[in-house]
Amino acid sequence: MTTYRIAPSILSADFARLGDEVKNVVAAGADWIHFDVMDNHYVPNLTFGPMVCQALKPHAKTPDGTAVPIDVHLMVQPVDALAQAFADAGADLISFHPDASTHVHRSVQAIKARGIKAGLTFNPGASLDVLDWLIDDIDLILIMSVNPGFGGQGFIDSALRKIEQARKRIEASGKDIRLEVDGGIKPDNIRRVADAGADTFVAGSAIFGKPDYKSVIDQMRVALK
Ligand code: DX5
Ligand code: ZN
Repeated sequence: MTTYRIAPSILSADFARLGDEVKNVVAAGADWIHFDVMDNHYVPNLTFGPMVCQALKPHAKTPDGTAVPIDVHLMVQPVDALAQAFADAGADLISFHPDASTHVHRSVQAIKARGIKAGLTFNPGASLDVLDWLIDDIDLILIMSVNPGFGGQGFIDSALRKIEQARKRIEASGKDIRLEVDGGIKPDNIRRVADAGADTFVAGSAIFGKPDYKSVIDQMRVALK
């Protein structure tokens, strides 16, 4: 029985009220908070850093006080110093793009050494080949179904084939690795993405672009049943 997770991306939230937005989307049923870090170098956009993550961490809690994992997606180059800074700032998972690190295995080791779950993120044009050497060391595979840098883009269908390939690799590894998909996820396509093998779904504009976050998340869960 697959446990599905919805990870709203705060890239599409109201940046003037990020604390409230995190609280509201947690109350609406978010499983993870997807935190998109952009450096205007690796991607042509600039968002927020470790201090914002630290400030938001206390708000990422359910009413009974259960912490909601902060899923940090580093779209930065280089990776290592910022990964350590996000580890200090309370990240629960840190994923990065292999082509943004000179030494991918060492970057994964450094995240794991902090007791934090490590993930690798694959752009629409990237192959999964690096998993040949890293699948036993990671906890998360993040498949980009849009080109990184912006919310509100259209889902790139070739990601479905890559998700299928990633699922086969996870099954062959026998490891409990989350398979997360990021970009262009909506209530009307999430089932197709799950059928390809994904179990964790990033959604930014689909959720924060609507007045009632809970109704969107509920629609997604119904589609996943
Ligand atoms: C894009 C980010 C995604 C983005 C998803 O670079 O990594 O997480 O926020 O936004 P939507 O769901 O609007 O495509
Ligand atoms: Zn992301």
